[in-house]
Amino acid sequence: MTQSLTIRRPDDWHLHLRDGAMLEGVLPETTRHFARAIVMPNLVPPVVTGAEAAAYRERIMAALPAGARFEPLMVLYLTETTDPADVRAAAASGLVKAVKLYPAGATTNSASGVRDFDRVRGVLETMAEIGLPLCVHGEVTDPAVDIFDREAVFLERVLEPIRRATPGLRVVLEHVTTREGLDYVRGGGPDMAGTLTTHHLIINRNHILAGGIRPHYYCLPVAKRETHRLALREAATGGEGCFFLGTDSAPHADAAKESACGCAGCFTATNTLSILAHVFEEEGALDRLEGFVALNGPAFYRLPPNEERITLRKGEPLVLPARIETGAGPVTLFDPGFPLLWHVES
Ligand code: NCD
Ligand code: ZN
Repeated sequence: MTQSLTIRRPDDWHLHLRDGAMLEGVLPETTRHFARAIVMPNLVPPVVTGAEAAAYRERIMAALPAGARFEPLMVLYLTETTDPADVRAAAASGLVKAVKLYPAGATTNSASGVRDFDRVRGVLETMAEIGLPLCVHGEVTDPAVDIFDREAVFLERVLEPIRRATPGLRVVLEHVTTREGLDYVRGGGPDMAGTLTTHHLIINRNHILAGGIRPHYYCLPVAKRETHRLALREAATGGEGCFFLGTDSAPHADAAKESACGCAGCFTATNTLSILAHVFEEEGALDRLEGFVALNGPAFYRLPPNEERITLRKGEPLVLPARIETGAGPVTLFDPGFPLLWHVES
């Protein structure tokens, strides 16, 4: 039986670091294990321009724990007034590695997102030309569409028309939660990839709703039926190069989650690698963990994989606090519901 596993240091291809006191509180949870992360731009106000991304990057670097080596990969938040020339310059300087599409109103802090896709055509064409990936929150916001169907409907109503109209556009369908999403990514050719979160490999919608409402399992896209969860596990552990880890670790203070109208987001930065090792071991795929967390992502983003290695070792159940304390309040860790036997050696 495998008791230890040495792999390249992982990256997180979809992460919320927030700002201010929350940033300071959650950043060490990521830098402890990860070398790089695609940092989501949904701050208030959002990170729209190259100058704003440069300033946000400075704030992240200033908040790094002493001795940490971590590279934030910056992302611009696409709005209907985004300037293609600014995107081009921010990418050319190496600062910005992707642009994020939030359909307006789809999720936390997405009010500045896109309503009329014709208005972003120029930016998308520039991105196709320079090979800059578009990270997509793939849910329609039409109130007539059931929340459990919003990803599948988005693929045909929004994503397919965008991709047809913009040949060569490189797209990451983020936090895929459905079989339909997986199949869409698989059929999308070399310019298409999908990220999978940790928590969607663990929970289905029953975990959120059956036997009492559990706000810490509520995220967007919302977890779907068990059949989808099983399909996601197969995609993550099956060795397909088009899928890689984007935790979507999305911290909110407990008071904002445990509320009459709770925020969406699961905070998984702290225990993601232990949970993933458990899942990959269960699926008999520990030898594929490195591809999922450290190789497929850099290959899609055309970046070199990390040279540094980490070792995971199996031992006594990991004892983690239920929540971390931050200057913005306590943040509850995602609870996978099973003991974590895999530890990342420090
Ligand atoms: C994210 C957040 O809190 O910023 N929440 C979430 O449930 N995933 C936004 C997002 O990525 O949709
Ligand atoms: Zn997210």
